[in-house]
Amino acid sequence: MVVIAVIGTAICIPLALIIPWFPARGSIQAGNVRTLYTVLLIATVPIFVLVETVVLFSVWKFRMRPGQEEMDGPPIHGNTRLEVVWTAVPAILIVSLCTYAYTVLRSNEASKKGEMTVNVTTRQFAFEFSYPISPGKQVVSPVLYLPNDKPVVFKIRSLDVIHSFFVPSFSEKLDAVPGIVTTLRVTPNRLGTYPVECTELCGAGHSLMRSSAHVVSPAEFTAWLRSQPINGPPPVGSPPANVIQAVPGYAVVPGAGSSSSASPSTSSSSSSASSTSAAAGKAVFTGQAGCSGCHTLAAAGATGTVGPDLDVRLRTDCANPASQKVRGTTLQQCIETAITDPYKYLPSGYSAGIMPPNFSQRLTPTEIQALVNFLSSAAK
Ligand code: CUA
Repeated sequence: MVVIAVIGTAICIPLALIIPWFPARGSIQAGNVRTLYTVLLIATVPIFVLVETVVLFSVWKFRMRPGQEEMDGPPIHGNTRLEVVWTAVPAILIVSLCTYAYTVLRSNEASKKGEMTVNVTTRQFAFEFSYPISPGKQVVSPVLYLPNDKPVVFKIRSLDVIHSFFVPSFSEKLDAVPGIVTTLRVTPNRLGTYPVECTELCGAGHSLMRSSAHVVSPAEFTAWLRSQPINGPPPVGSPPANVIQAVPGYAVVPGAGSSSSASPSTSSSSSSASSTSAAAGKAVFTGQAGCSGCHTLAAAGATGTVGPDLDVRLRTDCANPASQKVRGTTLQQCIETAITDPYKYLPSGYSAGIMPPNFSQRLTPTEIQALVNFLSSAAK
């Protein structure tokens, strides 16, 4: 039995280690977490294999045979030595692994020398990152830029419901809870672009609540920061005044609110929508913009029911005089406003706060133009 367990272990440990469980590691903390995970695997696989071997052997060896249905099993009393061993060994193992995990947690959460503060503000359904420059001055951005090898402390807030800030490659995640500020520390150590995700079901647009983290060289980071407008309007839009008051430390930016595009020239979009054709627009609709998740549109094979049915409402709503007054009279103008400033005109029966208000930042002007061309051709 021991031989089988040893052979099983010898097969299972390399197998467990060879499987890529995690995305590319992008931070010092991710390295610590993954080493911990490897140690846990190596410690637990032999125990699992041994226990399963004993279980399967016992099921086979001590199975009930024909004619034994009415018989009692043999009377067995305790074995003190065995009981001491099977209590002491797991206890030692668990205490050691917990101690190790605790030290990893402590070291990942410890404040680092010269760390840079980035404020993360969340709301349905967008992230906003702000970089304090000096008292009263900050740079706000819908995408996260970080200098490589520089410790960062994220101060995370929520303007509405509970969200969760997660960059899988950093192996760190923390909830954004309304009314309090939560703190997360990361030291990115690998250049690249990584997805940022909300991992708390926060409403109909939860699956669209994404951004990207760009880890760049310190020089590139400084250049990017300099190129950004100081105290630009918050990309996630201005929350109502009563919400701002409820959020400690939320900087109210004067004149914010109108989505006068701060146009962060982050045309790092790796999409292939280099043209504004209707076909490119369809790709944006079903792809990175995520419109299909909420809207019905036959031309895109979309069947979402969260937002207005575009097959029906696109033409009727854009022909509505109340809409034409605020969104413009042509179909093209109407569609463009509906994408970039969705609550300027609200179709009856739908409420504000569902459609992400930041598509003018999340999509490039080319992608928006492609979407407008696609939707206006689909509406004819
Ligand atoms: Cu925010 Cu899910």
